[in-house]
Amino acid sequence: MATTTESWGSRVGLILAMAGNAVGLGNFLRFPVQAVQNGGGAFIIPYLICFLLMGIPLLFIEWSSGRYGGKFGNHSTPYILDSMVKGRLLKYIGVFGIFTNLAIVAYYAYIESWTISYVYHSLMGTFQGMSQGEVAGFFNSYVDLSHTTTGIPYEAVIFYVLCLAFNTFILSKGLKGVEKVAKIGMPLLILFGVLLAIKGYTLGTSGASELFPDANAVDGLNFLWTPQFSSLADPKVWLAAAGQIFFTLSVGMGTIHCYAAYVKPKDDIALNAVSAGFMNGFVEVVLGSAIVIPIAAGYLGLDWVINNAGFGMAFQTMPYLFEQWGPALAMVAGVMWFGLLFFAGITSSLAMGTPWMGFMRDEFGWNRTKGAWSFGGLALLLGLPTVFFYNQGVFDDYDFWAGTVSLVTFAFFEVILFAWIFGMDKGWKEINHGSDIRIPMGYRFIIKYITPLLLGWVFFSSIPNIVD
Ligand code: PHE
Repeated sequence: MATTTESWGSRVGLILAMAGNAVGLGNFLRFPVQAVQNGGGAFIIPYLICFLLMGIPLLFIEWSSGRYGGKFGNHSTPYILDSMVKGRLLKYIGVFGIFTNLAIVAYYAYIESWTISYVYHSLMGTFQGMSQGEVAGFFNSYVDLSHTTTGIPYEAVIFYVLCLAFNTFILSKGLKGVEKVAKIGMPLLILFGVLLAIKGYTLGTSGASELFPDANAVDGLNFLWTPQFSSLADPKVWLAAAGQIFFTLSVGMGTIHCYAAYVKPKDDIALNAVSAGFMNGFVEVVLGSAIVIPIAAGYLGLDWVINNAGFGMAFQTMPYLFEQWGPALAMVAGVMWFGLLFFAGITSSLAMGTPWMGFMRDEFGWNRTKGAWSFGGLALLLGLPTVFFYNQGVFDDYDFWAGTVSLVTFAFFEVILFAWIFGMDKGWKEINHGSDIRIPMGYRFIIKYITPLLLGWVFFSSIPNIVD
C-alpha cells in the first residue's frame, strides 16, 4: 500500500488552510448580496438550517473521504472516490469536480486580481477627491479593456497574469507553501475584518450625509438580522441559502477531499471539519455582514443598498465611502479592505488548484512543479475570456454553471455514494475514526436520509432555473 509522502506540517496549519479554502470572496462579496436580495433577515434562518443539515454533513463526508483515499496514496478526487467504491462512473464524477474547480478559478482569480490592483490604488491615493460616480467609473473603465483610463494600459490583464503567476509559484512549493500563506493570511484577514467591522458597527448615524440625512448604519444591520419566519415558505430563498452554503464552504467540488488526503490516517477529522466550518461561518455572518452593508447604509441609506446590492459594490462604492474618513484613514481602510479580500481570495484559489495537481500526479506521476504550471496555464486560458469579455456577461455564466449548478450536482452524487453505496456503517466509522469530539448520533440519520433528500430537492428544483 503506497502512502502519501507529504502531509500537513501542523494541526493549526491544516485548520487554517482548510478555513482559508472556505473563507473566500464569497464570504465578503457574495453573502451580503445574497442576504440583501433575499430579504435580509428572511435569509438567515434558511441559511443556518442549510448549514446544519447540508453544510456540516458534507464537510464530514468530504474530510473523511479525503483521509480515507489518502491512506491508499491517492491525491485527487477521481482516485479518492474510486478507492471508496470501484466504478468508472465515480471516477467521472471526480473528474467533473476537477473541471468545476478550473472553471471557478477562471473567474475567481480575476476578481482576486482586482484586489491586488485596488490595494495598489489605495496606497497611491487614486480615489482621493473622486465623486461616487467617478469611483464607479474607475471600475467600469478598469474592466472595459477597450478604453483604459486607469493610468496603466491593459491593467486588468497585467494584474490577472500577475495574480495567476503568484498562485502558481506558491502551488509549486507544495503544501508547505499553501500552509504558510494560510498562516499569514488568515490572522491578518481576521484582524482587518474585525477592525473594519468595528468601524461598521459603530458608524451609527454619524455617517449620514447631507444627501441622505436618514442614512444609518444600524438600519443595515437590523435589516440583515431581524429574522422573518415567513421566508421559510419561500423556495427561492431556500435555494439561494443552499447555494450560498455550498459556495462558501467550498463543498461539492473536491477541494476538501484533496486537502484532507494529506491528513494522517490516525488524525482527527471531525473536530477539524467543524472548526474550519465554524470559522468560515463566523467570518461570513459576523464579519461579512458588518462591513459592506452597514457602511454603505450609513452613508447612502438602506434603500440605496437594497436597490444597488451587487458584488461590484465592494469595488465601486467602498473606496468612495472610505474617502469620507479623510485621506490617511481612507488609505489604511482601503489597504485593509482589499488586502483582506486578497487573502480571502488567494487561500481559496490555491485550494482550487489542488485537485488538478493531484490528478496529474495520480494519473501521470507529475511532480508539483509540473502540476502547478500546467494548472496556471489552464487557468489563464480559461480565464482570459472573463477578462476580455467581462462586460458581455461571460462572468455570470461561469458563476451560474460552475459556481452553483455543478456544486449541487456533485454534492448530490457524493452523498449518495457515501451514505448508500460506500454505506453508512463504514461511513460513520470513518467519520468517527480518530475523532476528538463526540458527534451527536443524530448526524448519522441526517447524513443518511435528510441530507440526500434536501440535496435532491435542491438539485431538482433548480432545474427550471437551468432550463430558463
Ligand atoms: N469558499 C470560497 C468562497 O467563499 C469559494 C470556493 C469555492 C473555494 C470552491 C474553493 C472551492 O469564496
